[in-house]
Amino acid sequence: MTANRMWGGRFTGGPSAIMEEINTSIDFDRRLAEEDIAGSEAHAAMLAARGIIDKVDADSIAAGLAAIRAEIGQGTFPYRREFEDIHMNVEARLSELIGPAAGRLHTARSRNDQVATDLRLWVRKACARAEQGLAEFQRALLTQAERHAGTIMPGFTHMQPAQPVTFGHHCLAYVEMAERDRGRFGDAGRRLNECPLGAAALAGTAYDIDRGATARQLGFDRPMRNSMDAVSARDFALEYLAAAAIAAANLSRLAEEIFLWASPAFGFVRLPDAFSTGSSIMPQKRNPDAAELVRAKTGRVLGSFVALLTVIKGLPLAYCKDLQEDKESVFAAADALDLCLAAMAGMIAQLTVEPAAMKRAAETGHPTATDLADWLVAKANRPFREAHAISAKAVARAEELGVTLDRLPLAELKKLDPAIAEGIY
Ligand code: ARG
Repeated sequence: MTANRMWGGRFTGGPSAIMEEINTSIDFDRRLAEEDIAGSEAHAAMLAARGIIDKVDADSIAAGLAAIRAEIGQGTFPYRREFEDIHMNVEARLSELIGPAAGRLHTARSRNDQVATDLRLWVRKACARAEQGLAEFQRALLTQAERHAGTIMPGFTHMQPAQPVTFGHHCLAYVEMAERDRGRFGDAGRRLNECPLGAAALAGTAYDIDRGATARQLGFDRPMRNSMDAVSARDFALEYLAAAAIAAANLSRLAEEIFLWASPAFGFVRLPDAFSTGSSIMPQKRNPDAAELVRAKTGRVLGSFVALLTVIKGLPLAYCKDLQEDKESVFAAADALDLCLAAMAGMIAQLTVEPAAMKRAAETGHPTATDLADWLVAKANRPFREAHAISAKAVARAEELGVTLDRLPLAELKKLDPAIAEGIY
């Protein structure tokens, strides 16, 4: 094994195979390639503008980075595990393409501020994607809500019929949840938008760099104030994961409802073929697998949050290699969330509602009992507690007679309270 050429100066041997296995991150951090190249472009341009590297080298670095971006786009970039991570893979390739000038790119920079910058850029996009996905989901809910503004369904508490509501009302509850979720991603995306570049390993750099220029070029609002914070903070990723976990939990609640509603026992909705599966043994089946998987993937998203929070909790300042473990959590959660949002938006958009089944269910379980009590308060000036007791007796009587409360004859109601009149119905 030969020593690593990025730091091999004082090493005589290379890593053991096990060391390489535990240390390498290229298998997953290749997903930061675009962000890494953009960060290097901004850094090289700034170094040239400050006269820290000359224009000829800066131009050749820029051309080499453009060639690497093209290779990545075409799938021809040679990812190599011996170069550990995306940063060293890009730099090694750059040196193959442009020669010694590549060695000037890492002036006034460390992989520590580099990776922190890359991940902020990636999470910024993930926040924007989540906001977008939530907006699509809200649009699907709004369309159904408008279509079913007058579709009566039972509202439940404790999963027991409580009071009649409309399907529109029910859908709009999820629009509100999604709105708060969107707000959380917006907040996280805004708060993370500061640039770590220039923090170098942890203590900043003595080169006369221009942190404002790199921050601006990368679309950050400003450079981060504290260099030790810049390289070691990952609470921006935790905020994204927390928002993702809450959003996934909210989606999971609706997924659970779709799962119940699509069961013939409820029959409230019919899922489109596009979001159902059949059974290999039971021909009648129409399974809501997508809803079930949205519900299940919540575990993966929450698990990612817990995993990263656990990585962070005992870390002294500043950078520790533990932080390399941040990425898989972020990627796993983002993949699951993006997919869940798309699946829920698709299911909601294509859901067929069965108003007759909803109406039938809304009539069982005497859901108008509260309305009867409220009528007694409003029209007969009864105290609510007394009205509640009268209505409860009416429910008991309806059950004896085998009818629903709204069909209990007036004569029966009058026995319970003579003030009850025809208008009650
Ligand atoms: N692959 C590393 C990571 O993801 C890059 C930073 C390495 N820094 C270091 N001091 N070894 O965190």
